[in-house]
Amino acid sequence: MSLMERMREKARNNKKIIVLPEGEELRTVRAAALVAAEGLADPVLLGDPETIRRVAEEQGADIDGIPLVDPASSPKGEVYAETLYELRRQKGLSREEAGKLARDPMYYGILMVKLGEADGLVSGAVHTTGDMLRPALQIIKTRPGMKVVSSSFLMECPNKELGEDGLLVYADCVVMPCPTAEELAHIAVSAADTARNLCGIQEPRVAMLSFSTKGSAKHELVSKVQEATAIAHALAPDLLLDGELQLDAALVPEVGASKAKGSPVAGRANVLVFPDLQAGNIGYKLTQRIGGANAFAVLQGLARPCNDLSRGCSVEDIVNTITMTVVQAQS
Ligand code: ACO
Repeated sequence: MSLMERMREKARNNKKIIVLPEGEELRTVRAAALVAAEGLADPVLLGDPETIRRVAEEQGADIDGIPLVDPASSPKGEVYAETLYELRRQKGLSREEAGKLARDPMYYGILMVKLGEADGLVSGAVHTTGDMLRPALQIIKTRPGMKVVSSSFLMECPNKELGEDGLLVYADCVVMPCPTAEELAHIAVSAADTARNLCGIQEPRVAMLSFSTKGSAKHELVSKVQEATAIAHALAPDLLLDGELQLDAALVPEVGASKAKGSPVAGRANVLVFPDLQAGNIGYKLTQRIGGANAFAVLQGLARPCNDLSRGCSVEDIVNTITMTVVQAQS
């Protein structure tokens, strides 16, 4: 069974309400119809109901029974505006600005999740990563005990000898351009949680990646990864985590045995933590484009799940992201 087949089965067993702020967008409307028909989630589409119905008809999508909510005229707008004002007034947000923002579909959707009226949110077919992330960071904030929001890419590789039967978790490839050592340590712990809770990997083995293995090179960038490794050990003493490791030492048993003898992770890592966003973003795209892996992205560390799409996404990508959001909301 593929990763996504397993996720779909899990989602169906305990469906969740997922709000889609880009409810007038045609791929989103088709995806909503599909997840509802397949029993993967209970979607809510935000936007002008007349427009949404017209798009659905043009696309041949059956949206009967899917709630359509217009943030511009919703009676809940006032309550949402007040919630937003209370959350952000110390940051200088005025009541008037809060009133306007709460009518914006992205903010409205995020406030639905904050207030527990939806279990998760998916957007990004139209908006950029930052458009969704910034309000999510400001309103939903991080999970208790978690310092940063970051991302994991679930990489389903054709080579089943890699990672966990071909599955590898990469972090962070989307959010934090230049994490400090402490932030890197939190990213590592979050990625291990994602491996366990979302992918069903019972024993996450986390490699803190660098261009050096166990002091083979000396540089301030290497020292940062060494420091992050020490902090991560203190944060999660029972987690199998090691660093700093080069990619080959992390993945290839013979290289791991020669470069990092005795490491509990080297040669058998299933979670790869990249030192910064440039490395992570390039790394996942190399694995996807040259290595032929399937790549699925999720955000981690938020108090409630919100996930981002690429603007070039397909209907299937949206269905997959909604499915993963349901599974995240279950835990
Ligand atoms: N975790 C937790 N909180 C955070 C984080 C984080 N990673 N980053 C910012 N915050 C908080 C801030 O503390 C601030 O909180 P406050 O207002 O309550 O004090 C709030 O979020 C907003 O912070 P800003 O500084 O206004 O936001 P910033 O300009 O730093 O933007 C963002 C944050 C959007 C995540 C930014 O780091 C970013 O654009 N990252 C890169 C996204 C991207 O383009 N990715 C690559 C492409 S995606 C792909 O290829 C699949």
